[in-house]
Amino acid sequence: MAAVQQQTVLRDAMRRLNMTRDAFASRIGVTRRALDTWLLPDGSPESRAMPEIAGRYVSEILERAPTEREYTQSAYSAIAFEGRAHLLSVDQFSRDAVEALFRVADTMQPIARRQKITRVLEGAVLANLFFEASTRTRVSFGAAFCRLGGSVCDTTGFTFSSMAKGESIYDTSRVISGYADALVVRHPEQGSVAEFARATNIPVINAGDGPGEHPSQALLDLYTIQREFSRIGKIVDGAHIAMVGDLKYGRTVHSLAKLLALHRGLKFTLVSPRSLEMPDHIVEQIARGDHVIEQTADLRAGLKGADVVYATRIQKERFADESIEGYTPDFQINQALVDAVCGPDTLIMHPLPRDGRPGANDLSTDLNHDARLAIFRQTDNGIPVRMAIFAMLLGVEHQVQHSMRDAAWRSPAYVGPDDAVFHGID
Ligand code: ASP
Ligand code: CP
Repeated sequence: MAAVQQQTVLRDAMRRLNMTRDAFASRIGVTRRALDTWLLPDGSPESRAMPEIAGRYVSEILERAPTEREYTQSAYSAIAFEGRAHLLSVDQFSRDAVEALFRVADTMQPIARRQKITRVLEGAVLANLFFEASTRTRVSFGAAFCRLGGSVCDTTGFTFSSMAKGESIYDTSRVISGYADALVVRHPEQGSVAEFARATNIPVINAGDGPGEHPSQALLDLYTIQREFSRIGKIVDGAHIAMVGDLKYGRTVHSLAKLLALHRGLKFTLVSPRSLEMPDHIVEQIARGDHVIEQTADLRAGLKGADVVYATRIQKERFADESIEGYTPDFQINQALVDAVCGPDTLIMHPLPRDGRPGANDLSTDLNHDARLAIFRQTDNGIPVRMAIFAMLLGVEHQVQHSMRDAAWRSPAYVGPDDAVFHGID
């Protein structure tokens, strides 16, 4: 069996020990610089092989680590809903289960970076059912399934599905179960994806149920935060997270706030216009942990001291009355505001899409060359995280590592024209 990649071993060790890179480097008696080079993806000019003796030492440390931080849930039970393999809500996750999933996501990185290929899902078919607009979630779930060797059937909108002829969720889900091995569903009604799940024995993934949840987005967001924090010497425990915008209808922040609340001692600053505040039931759920929660409509004050600023789009499509059309210009997060109130390491995140229409005042494009803007690192992370979700739901996560072969085609070193700005970030 192929050895687990050193990057996966090291990231897993830091997560399990809850250590920053600096603390971990000093724990294993190497320089931070040496550790950084071991963490770089294979093939990058500065990456170095970790000496065998260091690898053995890391394993020994993990063996001696307190059992509290060892994974208590099996990979399978980590994403089970009512005893079956589905991903419907972040409420299914313990912190250990999240970390088990992230370990699988780390093993997917060489495939996501197009250095390796795998065929572990060869012959499997994914049905991607999107009854609401989507670019990222639909395409990245499809691409993730294809990169595992499977094939994808898509249907988009109600118009081209027989739901337009009055077919029920139960019938639709049962019919698709005869055609496909997994089902990804986005639907405008909260709770509807759980209804799909109850009508089938194949795994169902919630890709957004109205103003409810978007669990895979929250997982890739947390994965991004952890990776970025690892680089800049922070851990999630104790972090200050500012969530900004439409916290009422924004399902990404509903899921992310709950997932972050699995950590310890966070400060949440919830910044929104009064009419778009985070629903009480979510605030109450996160308040059960040892977290500080502040709610404000003052953007400038709310961003001060934040380690992460998570901006969201106004979810106009969910408004019953059209009183708020967009943000006022003074509610926009842009370069001037970030420079004035954020620190040099503050991460600026957004689930995307950014509403670029005049008057929307969503997250500004003038931040595009600022390394603090992590939005495309977020979207890139959607592939390994969604691959990990499929691998775990379909029970192939242990086959991926030894199934990998070299990719035969040539791909660019940086997929985006501005990505070189982030050279060395990993
Ligand atoms: N794409 C995300 C969602 O579907 C966020 C958004 O649309 O604003 O929830
Ligand atoms: N972040 C997200 O869900 O994007 P899409 O709506 O484009 O899928």
